[in-house]
Amino acid sequence: MKVLVIGASGIIGSAVAAAFAQHQVIRASFSKSDISVDVANPESVRALFDKVGKVDAVLSAAGQAAFGPLRDLSDADFAYSLANKLMGQVNLVRYGIDFVTDGGSFVLCSGVVSRRPMAGGAALSLVNAGLDGFVRSAALELPRRQRINAVSPGWVAETLAAMGRDPRVGTPAATVANAYYQAATGTMTGRVLDVPAL
Ligand SMILES: NC(=O)c1ccc[n+]([C@@H]2O[C@H](COP(=O)([O-])OP(=O)(O)OC[C@H]3O[C@@H](n4cnc5c(N)ncnc54)[C@H](OP(=O)(O)O)[C@@H]3O)[C@@H](O)[C@H]2O)c1
Repeated sequence: MKVLVIGASGIIGSAVAAAFAQHQVIRASFSKSDISVDVANPESVRALFDKVGKVDAVLSAAGQAAFGPLRDLSDADFAYSLANKLMGQVNLVRYGIDFVTDGGSFVLCSGVVSRRPMAGGAALSLVNAGLDGFVRSAALELPRRQRINAVSPGWVAETLAAMGRDPRVGTPAATVANAYYQAATGTMTGRVLDVPAL
């Protein structure tokens, strides 16, 4: 398989790239990978596919959203979150359809706060729930047996460690990456894979 990993320099994305080591992996991210892309910029997403060409899977581990108390989240914070993590990944699908091979797939990244809310996570919950809904619906309409799924992680162990918190309560990035592998190589579509299971 030829797979395109977006966010390939990140904690989850680098584990996803490693999980596909037996395949041809094209690494893209904002600034630290072979190919630069800004998912929040539709023209940049279009240019990414023009550059990369046909792929068997688009694996997204990119997407930022604002975090903070609801009353402090500004219009700009919401606009940023929607344009980046939500529409950035939606546009990977919209613009990627013509570049994904027959039977190929998309795997997007949402997150557990869509269903397990936490204070400060209103914008993130909004975006993640939108992604979950988008994946379920888009699966009904993708052409040429293409599939689409989302991986919805809880706290990742390496992220907790980087924050100086106890990594043992998190999930290893390699486990999250394995969910991407199962989604891209299996037959499922329209699924949101919670890692760990809720
Ligand atoms: N880590 C967790 O505990 C956790 C839990 C649940 C959900 N998630 C979700 O998983 C995704 C990845 O998280 P992570 O922890 O792996 O993040 P990370 O380590 O901070 O890595 C972020 C990756 O996204 C890239 N990126 C940032 N802005 C971008 C943009 N505008 N366009 C394209 N690429 C961009 C970065 O590229 P550069 O390095 O080149 O700047 C990097 O490769 C996020 O959507 C996050 O919300 C993470």
